[in-house]
Amino acid sequence: MTYSSIISELRNQILYITINRENKLNALNKETLSELAQAIASAQNNEGVRGILLTGAGQKAFVAGADISEFAEFDGVQGEELARHGQETVFNAIEQSAKPVIAAINGFALGGGLELAMACHMRIVSDNAKLGLPEVSLGLIPGYGGTQRLTQLVGKGRAIEIITTGEMISATQAESIGLVNYVVAPEFLIVKAEELLNKIKLRAPLAVASAIRSINASADTKIDGFEIEIREFGRCFNTQDFKEGTAAFIEKRKPIFSGK
Ligand code: COA
Repeated sequence: MTYSSIISELRNQILYITINRENKLNALNKETLSELAQAIASAQNNEGVRGILLTGAGQKAFVAGADISEFAEFDGVQGEELARHGQETVFNAIEQSAKPVIAAINGFALGGGLELAMACHMRIVSDNAKLGLPEVSLGLIPGYGGTQRLTQLVGKGRAIEIITTGEMISATQAESIGLVNYVVAPEFLIVKAEELLNKIKLRAPLAVASAIRSINASADTKIDGFEIEIREFGRCFNTQDFKEGTAAFIEKRKPIFSGK
């Protein structure tokens, strides 16, 4: 599939999605969001995709936020619709992806850019990157799940500090508060993300998907995450991969998982 604002390439079972609006610091306009939604949705039905690596084009920015020029004239109803549609089609879709999604943060991750990274399952950040949710400087608040996911990741006190001051934090500060998994030199950013995805590729795909669903349930106050874990645990027993994994252990060999 060919896109205009993103590049999507499948190599060695990893889908590389690059947001490709470098001259606008990869700001998320309508077209970019729509293409991201399509790429994530089609990856779910592609057995050849075992993980997704999301990054931004160029050296300067992962994503410098939602495209401000597109909503500058909006009223409240349009603003609500922008947030709802974006959350449902892109941000929640990434979080609920059965294939693990890693954000490789190669520069500024601001506003919608940090929200996008937070919707991913893991975050690797280059040591020169800056992260923040500066929406209050524009008279707004984060609208793509940022108030919720930042609080889940770093706790209420730190989330309130970051969101109400609107200040950027460094990569090492982000690591120290648990906002990102690893800080690396820029040349190792993709390498580190690939290293993690290549490890996950050796594991049973349906079990990985069950783990993601169960862990996501911990943040959903409307459902009982322990109950979800029990059901997902039970589902795993019905898979061929469970039979293969246990047989391989007993036969002292490496498992070959089929994702069935
Ligand atoms: N929406 C739309 N365009 C954006 C953008 C955004 N969120 N962020 C950057 N751009 C555009 C700039 O308008 C500029 O376009 P132009 O060359 O056509 O004028 C281009 O990207 C380069 O950005 P510029 O501001 O010139 O780069 P800089 O190095 O001086 O500053 C930032 C970098 C990230 C500090 C600055 O771009 C910025 O503050 N961006 C907005 C961040 C933000 O508030 N995000 C939350 C949005 S809800």
